[in-house]
Amino acid sequence: MRKLRVLLVGAAFSADLHSDGYSRIRDKAAIVGICDKDLDRVRALAKRYGFEDYAAYDDYETAIRDCDCDLVDICMPNFLHHDVAILALQRGRDIICEKPLATTVEDARDMVDTAARLDRRIYYAEDWLFAPAFRKALAILRSGQLGRPLYIRARECHSGSHSPFAQSIRYCGGGCMVHLGVHPVGFMLALKENRWRELTAMTSGGRAKNLIHRAMEGEDWAGAFLRFEDGMTATVEANYTTVGGMEDVLDIYCEQGCIHVDLSFSGPVKVFSIPGLDYTVEKAEITTGWSTPAVDEKYNLGYCGEIDHFVSCALAGTDAQVGLRGVDGLETLKVIHLIYRSAREGVHITNDRLEA
Ligand SMILES: NC(=O)c1ccc[n+]([C@@H]2O[C@H](COP(=O)([O-])OP(=O)(O)OC[C@H]3O[C@@H](n4cnc5c(N)ncnc54)[C@H](O)[C@@H]3O)[C@@H](O)[C@H]2O)c1
Repeated sequence: MRKLRVLLVGAAFSADLHSDGYSRIRDKAAIVGICDKDLDRVRALAKRYGFEDYAAYDDYETAIRDCDCDLVDICMPNFLHHDVAILALQRGRDIICEKPLATTVEDARDMVDTAARLDRRIYYAEDWLFAPAFRKALAILRSGQLGRPLYIRARECHSGSHSPFAQSIRYCGGGCMVHLGVHPVGFMLALKENRWRELTAMTSGGRAKNLIHRAMEGEDWAGAFLRFEDGMTATVEANYTTVGGMEDVLDIYCEQGCIHVDLSFSGPVKVFSIPGLDYTVEKAEITTGWSTPAVDEKYNLGYCGEIDHFVSCALAGTDAQVGLRGVDGLETLKVIHLIYRSAREGVHITNDRLEA
């Protein structure tokens, strides 16, 4: 069977998440190149996952020019997504791009337009859509057994990004809403095929106005209300004020039932440790006392399913499912920028692109 040849660009946190996915489908995908300006990270990543026949690069322009691959997987800081994507698309490669698609709507639109013009595909890495627990919730919802969904509340929150790039809007594109809220927003838009009708939002505002992170240019608290074309409403929330580990929570309220999913804190394993464990769940500050260590965390957060889906699509030459295409990354970023506008100007925004 033909294997998809993948060039990984970036060898840090998200490259690790994706690599776990590739390492489980070695019959379908081969890592043929890894690029990071820090070559120690390249070597460490390859060693961790047993990637052997790959070329190492410390410069993405050289990597994209020289590496004989089918797909470029972009695991770089947000502000580099656009430039790396355009180079890869022009070189005739499909791309996987981490969230957010870009730091500005203009850059994201340029990526989508360039891919369309060159007949290439963008696979937008929204892992929430492949988290098995969220998929189970959606399957129950779609079965109709709870009646019509009326209201969904979704949030991703933790105590602050590990990335120095997250401190500045120029590098990140915003604060916690673009960094974390991108997941619940993308998830809700996918569920409703991007047919949102109106939104209104508040954020902490950034810098001195923030609740905790006053050196951070972007906001550390943000929430938005959305209404969709079919009348369903949603609250999406993101913050950097949540301690104890990353919260990924989904609450779905229907006419005849409800569903509650706690993706990151629920699990079958309970541990009490006096000295503390080396790891429990993503972003947990301490690991002493009672904890619920994640079981196969990368799989359960959706990264493995997402990579498997993208590799299968790229091998077959097809688009990803709704929510995971370049256009979905673009719509998610547009909505996030409208959330920022609503919060900044105190205005309620309607989607004038939705035909009456
Ligand atoms: N889906 C998720 O849950 C999730 C989680 C974490 C990060 N991300 C996304 O993944 C992307 C990468 O974030 P991250 O946390 O992995 O790491 P990061 O942003 O800290 O950096 C990624 C890597 O890029 C390398 N790099 C930076 N500039 C470079 C250049 N010019 N040339 C070559 N290498 C360069 C760095 O050395 C680093 O190893 C971001 O877009 C982020 O939003 C997604």
